[in-house]
Amino acid sequence: MNALRLASRLSTRAAAASSQVLPRGAGASLSLIAPRIEATQSQTLSSLATSTNKAPALHELGSVDHGFTDDRVDRIAEPERRAFTYLLLSGVRFAYASTARVLVVKFVSSMSASADVLALASAEFDVSAVSPGKTITVKWRGKPVFIRHRTPAEIATEATVPLSALRDEESDEDRVLQPEWLVVLGICTHLGCVPISGAGDFNGWFCPCHGSHYDVSGRIRKGPAPLNLEVPPYKFTGDAKILIG
Ligand code: FES
Repeated sequence: MNALRLASRLSTRAAAASSQVLPRGAGASLSLIAPRIEATQSQTLSSLATSTNKAPALHELGSVDHGFTDDRVDRIAEPERRAFTYLLLSGVRFAYASTARVLVVKFVSSMSASADVLALASAEFDVSAVSPGKTITVKWRGKPVFIRHRTPAEIATEATVPLSALRDEESDEDRVLQPEWLVVLGICTHLGCVPISGAGDFNGWFCPCHGSHYDVSGRIRKGPAPLNLEVPPYKFTGDAKILIG
């Protein structure tokens, strides 16, 4: 940078000298000096170009605290400290990872259903007191559920209904686990009214809202409802015990 400034000053002075009004006789002296100035300029510029192309030496990098040379990792006086440092860092990271894992597990477990909610998700009903031909209505997850104890005649009637006569084609045996027991949601598939048990043209259920008739298998047979009554998930936990949900 100093060489650049010097070259710049020299060229500025030469220009100033040439533009000045010189006294008589000074023009000859100036004509002698000018070539020297130009030679000095060219020498300075060539040395500058040479120094610019050359890679700087280590001491020219301008490090004030000499940290690059003094604190290099491969010049540590006590290499065993490196292992201790790595061990310390690994321990801290492991502690962080363990804490994060615990927090994630707690957060996820807080989102799962509590015991009382799970208890409501399923409900067991004793149907031993329901005589053949009768229907009881129980509540499961806030919805009415019909449990009907079917007679042998009703079972035989529903088993012989051809699928072609059904709007929502579903055989009776696909809707029951045991032929004597029918379990369906008590919600009309038209607009959600609660149908009346033991009523309608098919002696199953009748929805008074818009006149849908369901048979003893809970299948839609007449009226605007598009689908059969829904069968919830259930299983028998005893001779006369049904667990819904
Ligand atoms: S809601 Fe049952 S027929 Fe319309």
